[in-house]
Amino acid sequence: MSADLKPVYETIDKRRNEWIQILKESIAIESVSSDPARRGDVRRMVEWTMAYLSKQGAKCWLEELGEQTLHDGKKLPLPPCLLGELGHDPKKKTVLLYGHLDVQPARKEDGWNTEPFLMVESDGKLWGRGTSDDKGPVLSWIHAIQVLNEHKIEIPVNIKFCFEAMEESGSEGLTELLQRKKADGWLADVEYTCISDSYWLGTEKPCLSYGLRGICSYHVEVSGLQQDLHSGVYGGSVYEPLNDLFYLMSQLMDVNGKILIPGIMDQVAEVTQIEKEAYEKIDFDVKEYRESVGAAKLPSEHKETLLMNRWRFPSLSVHGVEGAFSDPGDKTVIPSKVSGKFSIRVVPNMEPEKINSLVAKYLNELWEKRGSGNKMKLITNQGSVPWVHPIDHPHFKAASRAVKKVYNVEPDFIREGCSIPITLTFQELTGHSVILLPTNASDSMAHSQNEKMRTHCYIDGIKLLATYLMELGH
Ligand code: BES
Ligand code: MN
Ligand code: MN
Repeated sequence: MSADLKPVYETIDKRRNEWIQILKESIAIESVSSDPARRGDVRRMVEWTMAYLSKQGAKCWLEELGEQTLHDGKKLPLPPCLLGELGHDPKKKTVLLYGHLDVQPARKEDGWNTEPFLMVESDGKLWGRGTSDDKGPVLSWIHAIQVLNEHKIEIPVNIKFCFEAMEESGSEGLTELLQRKKADGWLADVEYTCISDSYWLGTEKPCLSYGLRGICSYHVEVSGLQQDLHSGVYGGSVYEPLNDLFYLMSQLMDVNGKILIPGIMDQVAEVTQIEKEAYEKIDFDVKEYRESVGAAKLPSEHKETLLMNRWRFPSLSVHGVEGAFSDPGDKTVIPSKVSGKFSIRVVPNMEPEKINSLVAKYLNELWEKRGSGNKMKLITNQGSVPWVHPIDHPHFKAASRAVKKVYNVEPDFIREGCSIPITLTFQELTGHSVILLPTNASDSMAHSQNEKMRTHCYIDGIKLLATYLMELGH
């Protein structure tokens, strides 16, 4: 109850600097899961977290996940997953806390104002890669437990931990681990799963998230020349791979983002009347949103349509081209082999297998039509499925009460356009509910330049997560 937690909140405020320091320590570990050269750092991050969590009295261990096969066929050990438990009272329910310790790549040259892996506090914000996604929130869980322990407050639930380090690379190996942990009974008593790895809809008002999109991602490789060629010497006499690739990539979506691959939209669940009404109720300022992304115009500025385009309809994004010249200045060259990267965010009732075959069929047909002498190959990466949860569940009510106690407002109930690949797996394997309980404001700029966590979000987040644990007992 909030009255009982007042001294806890005071301690949390008092220890602010200490906790900022700990976050800084974790940010300095460059745990970029997509970069094979950083695999040692990713492991070090998992071990660092294990040491810190153990200090709070949790029993922790590492689960090895085997090997990852890279695109070039090379093998690389996957980083281990950190599992743990705290409390074994058979009279209590058990909550499983999931978070991730890996981060997206970052370099100062990408346009950061500060070194991405050297966290700094300025302007009431903590700047650094992973501050919001997801090291800050993971540490907030650990601090919440620490401070409840120190105040000798009995946590009314048993806690299990699952902190992985491949989330940003599709959570490879984790499904298999969780299946093993279901088989050996470890997941049997888990009644709640909570993930703090998403964002509020705006910068002030907290929310609870009840849906995520899944993702299917692709590389289209076009090749045909033995090596890059001088465009003056060879231009006009060969089929150019990059031009072929542009032909393909430019026909994936129209200017408004409509997906042009036939059959994709047929799989999307109909919007119900109840859903329509729920979107009408959401507090959301379209103009503020447009300004926050720095755009002059958006494909739709109708509130409900815009939110549905972000959360409940699929979207296709083109991410980049590997192998093409991208440095400053000119280089009069014909690249010999290029690979275009794009992905589709998927929603109920889309099935990744079916999407993959529609994408392959469409690209093959376009390629036929193109009549190029080059070769085209489609590579399909491991995808993830969407997740949606009913919001009238007691788990959401408990989290809602926690939000009310800490922030004194009722949370928004929102869906998210992003993916946390393992979410549905937790729901299916435990047979119980999953909730997303964010502590971060919408402007955290995760994955982007100048990622940050507002300092008050980090500190109040500790209060929120502590309160949530307490509310699960009611
Ligand atoms: N924390 C994000 C997912 C997220 C972001 C959820 C915002 C809700 C709101 C997560 O770390 C992430 O980036 N997921 C990736 C997964 C992908 C690489 C498989 C994503 O969505 O791009
Ligand atoms: Mn994340
Ligand atoms: Mn992320």
